Amino acid sequence: MLSSDHIEIHETAFVTSAFRAADVKLSGDYFAYLWNNPKTEKWVEEYLTKVSSEETFTHCLRNRYFLDKIKENVIKNGTEVLINFGAGFSMYPFLLDPKIIHIEIDKPEIVGHKKFKIEQWQNEDLLPKRNLHFIGVDFSKEYKEGLLATIKSLKGKKKCFILIEGVLFFLDREETDSLFQLFNLLQDTGDIIGSASFQDNLKQTLAFKRLIDFFGEKISKTKASDYQTIQDTYYREISGYILVDHQDYFSLSKDYNHKIIQDKELILNENFYLLQKVKS
Ligand SMILES: C[S@@+](CC[C@H](N)C(=O)[O-])C[C@H]1O[C@@H](n2cnc3c(N)ncnc32)[C@H](O)[C@@H]1O
Repeated sequence: MLSSDHIEIHETAFVTSAFRAADVKLSGDYFAYLWNNPKTEKWVEEYLTKVSSEETFTHCLRNRYFLDKIKENVIKNGTEVLINFGAGFSMYPFLLDPKIIHIEIDKPEIVGHKKFKIEQWQNEDLLPKRNLHFIGVDFSKEYKEGLLATIKSLKGKKKCFILIEGVLFFLDREETDSLFQLFNLLQDTGDIIGSASFQDNLKQTLAFKRLIDFFGEKISKTKASDYQTIQDTYYREISGYILVDHQDYFSLSKDYNHKIIQDKELILNENFYLLQKVKS
């Protein structure tokens, strides 16, 4: 899967996992290490030097925040199904209550590889068995009707938490609108969406300029305008939902007692939102 010196967008999932594996106490992801491999290690080292050395911790805290919020919703809100859009190699199925049903959606090459490796690790007793379903789709192509029917057949009327993290940056606004419309069709009153995205003002920072230069070298998309940023108002105006929580790397660092090392200019500060459906 990791074939050349060039990074495909779906292969960024390996890098994200490597960051989570680097500080397990902070990320809470005790299984991320399973995805480590020599090629990713090389990218990670280069990325941390050329873009921002804080990236390990931003990704660890993102995972920890959503992990804790999903756990909280399982207890307080009766969440029974986690639907992870652009799930990559995240390991929530193995970090949550075994009763939870997991639906993971990503590009076919990612879900194919993930299913293969998970089954291998389960056979080797490195991972426990879980109620886990993989669906391969590309959010930039025609996918909605088939996906809606497949998810509905798996989820039934059960309460769900939809997660989309590390993905919207790579999509355009039309694709994003379309996903949020799909979320609305899938969810009932009280259900939650967790979303992560960057705000417009990040584009002024040195860290963002470095990120675009790095992606320019490694990924076919090269201009800042190829990458999506999203303002708070977008989340506040999603019809049928209310914003119930909003955090970023700085607020989570305080909450989890994490000491920030880099200057603000050198941090890719990501924003994290929880939305709750208020009417069906
Ligand atoms: C940076 S990774 C994040 C993975 C995971 N959410 C996490 O936080 O570890 C981005 C993920 O988005 C997926 N992705 C990006 N564009 C996509 C598209 N058009 N359709 C489906 N998945 C996409 C990639 O395949 C990849 O797994």
